[in-house]
Amino acid sequence: MQKKKPIVEGLERFRQQQNISFHVPGHKHGELSNLPQAFKDVMRYDVTELTGLDDLHYPEEMILEAEHLLADTYGVMKSFFLVGGSTVGNLAMIYATCNRGDTIIVQRNAHKSIFHAIELVGAKAVYVSPQWDERTLTATHVSYDDLTQAVDCYPEAKAVVLTYPTYYGMTSKDIARQVAYCHEKNIPILVDEAHGAHFSACSLFQPSSLTFGADVVVQSAHKTLPAMTMASFMHVNSKLVNVERIHHYLRMLQSSSPSYILLASLDDARYYIQTYMESDGAYIIEKKNQWAEALRAIGSLEVIEVDDPLKLLLRVDGYSGYQLQEALEDKRVYVELADAHQVLLVLPLLKQGYSYPFADIRVRIKEAVTALLNTEKAAIEAVSQNAYNFVAITEPMYSSDEIATMEKEWLPYMRTMGRTAASMIIPYPPGIPLLVPGEKITVAKLSQLEELLATGATFQGNHRLEEKMIEVIK
Ligand SMILES: Cc1ncc(COP(=O)(O)O)c(C=O)c1O
Repeated sequence: MQKKKPIVEGLERFRQQQNISFHVPGHKHGELSNLPQAFKDVMRYDVTELTGLDDLHYPEEMILEAEHLLADTYGVMKSFFLVGGSTVGNLAMIYATCNRGDTIIVQRNAHKSIFHAIELVGAKAVYVSPQWDERTLTATHVSYDDLTQAVDCYPEAKAVVLTYPTYYGMTSKDIARQVAYCHEKNIPILVDEAHGAHFSACSLFQPSSLTFGADVVVQSAHKTLPAMTMASFMHVNSKLVNVERIHHYLRMLQSSSPSYILLASLDDARYYIQTYMESDGAYIIEKKNQWAEALRAIGSLEVIEVDDPLKLLLRVDGYSGYQLQEALEDKRVYVELADAHQVLLVLPLLKQGYSYPFADIRVRIKEAVTALLNTEKAAIEAVSQNAYNFVAITEPMYSSDEIATMEKEWLPYMRTMGRTAASMIIPYPPGIPLLVPGEKITVAKLSQLEELLATGATFQGNHRLEEKMIEVIK
């Protein structure tokens, strides 16, 4: 097994040389910075494309070697380090496969970056509604029948975009057959695997969509691997997608001064997963199972396990996820997200022998639940259901180019049934738009919006929800 970390080692060598900086960045190895010493220590490694340190956009030396190791680790033709998060990978994969006016088939509960990419490219989206999972109370994946029907109806589609796993750690059992079907039609499958960078670590986890033949896969290394925020991977393993086009767009979309600290953390994350053993996977699964049992012993706390062993859902009957989140934060336990029903925890990808203070956290969670039970229950009982699946396949009424020139108006959202949305409304997190421009506003969407507002969700997008107003096409 390769034990190298080319970028980490290259940067460490460079630091030890005590080189003089007459180059950017202006903090001069941190010397001019007034940040606390711990920050300044890290800035020592914040360098730029100097001799011997290679260039992310045209790699020939240590970055190329590290990207080769990454491709080897994931068993793909070509891998890229991303310093703009999975967001930039999602943009690049759609730019690389679609031109203005081209059709693209998209799982509707995609991250906002997918919708942004479609708008920027000027592609014509066809949405496929996800299924609803009663156990996790979340929208999950598109069914085989719905996806293949969309492909049959729109054979001219230039790509299909899936999200696998979901933010909540649910995986699709249909993805292998979906990939095979699309490949028969020569349509590439682009997968937003932001939450699945760790899947390839061992066979005890769910398989990565790469194992099913996905053409392009984007992974937020920073979400489940020990990488820094914004550090992501992109893999291309395809006869249908031109890898040079991906590279071309990454060069345009990413900074011309990519952070070497992020690159080092990606190199290190690749090493972490490459050296992750089956026994490590068994260890974290065992730890998770024991902890889930211990949490269940806390009366009134419901613990829901999902496909991904690193994710766990917690609920307290009668209280919204936002209330539980607040109670946990009072005990200094910070969760990944809350929704109307529950909170989502992301557990650490431990290796054998690593410890994490699970017992102490359980005590705090118990105190939080006790405190929560002494407060008022949620004002409304959350009953959300799939806001997407009344029609399996939909097209927005207008393209983003058309919407840009159309007259719009602000209305109380309760009076917008049957109207066409002019702006995105994005509950955040998870960042999956409830409404996208050009989409018909249905009763199901409005009920979900009402429920989200009543239970305390926060929103991104262009809205005036504090006045209960949204923007529609006039
Ligand atoms: C499903 C999904 N895709 C893409 C992204 C964007 O990832 P990043 O934050 O790495 O840009 C997110 C972020 O939460 C996400 O949940």
